[in-house]
Amino acid sequence: MISDAELIALAKDARRFAHAPYSNFSVGAALLSSDGRVFTGCNVENSTYGLSMCAERVAIFKAVSDGSHEISKVVVVTDHEHIAPPCGCCRQMIWEFANDQTEVILANLTGDVRSYRIGELLPEAFDSKFLEGVGQ
Ligand code: THU
Repeated sequence: MISDAELIALAKDARRFAHAPYSNFSVGAALLSSDGRVFTGCNVENSTYGLSMCAERVAIFKAVSDGSHEISKVVVVTDHEHIAPPCGCCRQMIWEFANDQTEVILANLTGDVRSYRIGELLPEAFDSKFLEGVGQ
């Protein structure tokens, strides 16, 4: 099983591919799926700004489009003295593919690491259970 340190290293590598000429804020992600596969992502910005995509969601889309639908862990690496947490959209998207144990590990380039369960980052989440039976 891949270690957290190895996942952090992969997220750091992915961060180097960030396309972030507008914010100059590069982000890398490494996602470990429950089937043991690892998917990486970086943020990809666009001159229209609004089309920009976060690193976490790039990794999630890669995982789901390759058939991995359950996130065991996702590591997010930024270069900020205060470890940067995932944005609200990414929290919601992680929740969609999370289980009770899904971990979100935040790290920066100076070696700070913090770990959360997704439920701590997104309490009272909306999800598919609210849609059960709707329209029947
Ligand atoms: N960003 C991410 O990649 N993940 C987050 O969770 C927060 C923000 C990116 C989006 C944008 O390219 C840059 O960071 C500045 O917001």
